Amino acid sequence: MSEEKKTIYSGMQATGNLTLGNYLGALKNWVNLHQDYNCLFGIMDLHSLTVRQDPAAFKKHARSLYALYVAAGLSPEENIIYYQSHVPAHAELGWILDCFTYMGELNRMTQFKDKSAKHADNINAGLYTYPALMAADILLYQADLVPVGADQKQHLELCRDVAQRFNSIYGDVFTIPDGYFGKTSAKVMSLQEPEKKMSKSDENLNATILLTDDKDTVIRKFKRAVTDSEANIAYRDEQPGIKNLINIYSAVTEKTPEEVVKEFEGKGYGDFKMAVGEAVASELAPLQERYNDILKNKDYLDQMIRTNDEKAAILANKTLRKVHKKVGLTDRVYYPFPPKKEEPKEEVPAADDGAYVQMSLTATKIKDKDTITVKENKKRK
Ligand code: TYM
Repeated sequence: MSEEKKTIYSGMQATGNLTLGNYLGALKNWVNLHQDYNCLFGIMDLHSLTVRQDPAAFKKHARSLYALYVAAGLSPEENIIYYQSHVPAHAELGWILDCFTYMGELNRMTQFKDKSAKHADNINAGLYTYPALMAADILLYQADLVPVGADQKQHLELCRDVAQRFNSIYGDVFTIPDGYFGKTSAKVMSLQEPEKKMSKSDENLNATILLTDDKDTVIRKFKRAVTDSEANIAYRDEQPGIKNLINIYSAVTEKTPEEVVKEFEGKGYGDFKMAVGEAVASELAPLQERYNDILKNKDYLDQMIRTNDEKAAILANKTLRKVHKKVGLTDRVYYPFPPKKEEPKEEVPAADDGAYVQMSLTATKIKDKDTITVKENKKRK
């Protein structure tokens, strides 16, 4: 991490397949940011637990998401790409921030209202306090900027409010983050109901383009996209279906909406839909090829995950330690760290002092004093 660069933080839930909305609203905008910023991108698997998951499928999706990040162009050597659940500081700070977040604030969150309506049989406390955990994600890394789609604006506002509240009590502990939004693609809408955002949980499969959809599927879905009877390719709110297609084409080709309108002047909706489908399929093809290659390279993925988890944990623990001090929690020597693969798997004695032995092993490991650790354990056994 460079001292001179500002820090960027973002992430995605590890649920289901990513959509074109996730890609154009977030992932695509993250690529190359590392040139100007220190960048961290999390796989927000703890957030995914707010909705019931099938464990095997969940594990697979979380792994695929790492590969998709990398395939989209995020280098795990240039960015810190890690799993939220591998850095326990997230859950810990999440709890502390729960205690600084008002129920009145959480009650206003539109995502909570939407998700509660969708999962009426499982309106759990995690769904409710979701934004406090999200605030913890961002604040742990002292992020200056958070690149997200427009649907996350409200959560980000809450994060800023909670950080300011905390700072006003304890001094400057957290950096107050700003949102960072793409222009045309901040909200990619459903292809079937263009008043609604494109979402991976949509039951209508034609509404959503998945990043793993093949060319024929992509083109078929765009051909079926709902438009209107105006027969006029114009960029205006009264034609939400066409406006959405213009936004998508614009984001993929990097042309402005005005340039797109000009390009298709006098053309029919059929031609336009076909062109959007072709452009999106060409954007996704190389990404899909890289994605398949990366998933096959198990050792590389495992190595990257381990290294990056550690980098994230070091940064997160620095902030967590500061927060503990500020709020007056009793000093502690041990901040959890993801274990290294080569770490000797020593049996922890079942006696009462087992926890202490394990604690000293890890605490001294952080300082890389392996010899001392082994001796100390032998003595205590
Ligand atoms: P998630 O997983 O729902 O979405 C990940 C990112 O994709 C963007 N996005 C969209 N952008 C444009 N159009 C769409 N149709 C669309 N659908 C999704 C989202 O805005 C988001 O940027 N709460 C977050 C995950 C999270 C997070 C964080 C993000 C947890 N902690 C800390 C940033 C920082 C979420 O549910 O994203």
